[in-house]
Amino acid sequence: MAGNLFARSLRVTDRLDRIRMLARGKINLSLRVLGRRPDGYHALDSWMQPIDWCDELTIRMSDSPGILLKCDDRGAPTGPENLICRAARALSKGAGRELQVEIELVKRLPMGGGLGGGSADAAATLLGLAALWGIARGDSVLANAAEFVGSDVPFFLGGGAAIIRGRGERVEPHPRPFDGWAALIVPQFGVDTGSVYAAWRASLNRGQGPPYLEPWANVWRDAEDLSLRLTNDLTPAAFEVEPRLGQIHSGVHMLNGARVHMSGSGSTLFALFDDEPTALAWLASVRNVVHAGAGLRVVRVLTTPPISVS
Ligand code: C5P
Repeated sequence: MAGNLFARSLRVTDRLDRIRMLARGKINLSLRVLGRRPDGYHALDSWMQPIDWCDELTIRMSDSPGILLKCDDRGAPTGPENLICRAARALSKGAGRELQVEIELVKRLPMGGGLGGGSADAAATLLGLAALWGIARGDSVLANAAEFVGSDVPFFLGGGAAIIRGRGERVEPHPRPFDGWAALIVPQFGVDTGSVYAAWRASLNRGQGPPYLEPWANVWRDAEDLSLRLTNDLTPAAFEVEPRLGQIHSGVHMLNGARVHMSGSGSTLFALFDDEPTALAWLASVRNVVHAGAGLRVVRVLTTPPISVS
């Protein structure tokens, strides 16, 4: 009996030399910057949820040492600076496993758009390699690698709607997630995260208020009511770094009554809706105001894990 089981598990392991992962993006519904930390990063308090817009990764064991990354988007870097490569190397080092992999990335999430595409890809790489190497999902080697690769990566290893604290490494389930739709406006340009934080530090009237998790976090009624209460402390700084983003925002904010927020450090802007038809109708009205090639898309805001096996 034990022999049979062993043989069966060997066959399963043998077959698992390739895995396909879906890496969904995120939005920051709210983001408070609480101050600068001794390590130079900023202490955050942010409400994050996955969205149903994703990249796709196929990870294969290969015969050649190292990591070969291919991407359908020629604009995406495929060298060691890509977060996928950094994640793979970090896990290989932490777990003491030899890296012999090929990764194919189908890139759909915008780069530098505040939707966490690069971080989602990194987390999908960690979880995919963990599955191929037989590392348990809860193993601390994964959390350590995620934290090393980037501030947003720990969120993507987690379970869904979350409150992020610290530099991004403390991920707690959100007590009352948003279950609805977001209309996204994705400008053709990205915004550099480091420059936005630097502008936040330099600004005199930066918001440095209490964490968002005040009593209202649990008592909002609907998308409109919630939207009224959301804040992103990085918004003025991002508009300073990229004035075109501020111009787009002033064109669409309060259009047909909808409040428009920024995700992360930009450049994606979004408005929240309780149902898809209202979100689509609003985005149709945005089409008349926003030109210059911004991407417009309605996405479901999810409460389920951002990374999954496809
Ligand atoms: O960690 P990650 O590489 O994603 O961060 C990119 C940049 O954003 C950092 O170099 C830093 O300038 C800034 N950042 C920060 N505080 C955070 C997250 C990011 O200052 N909590």
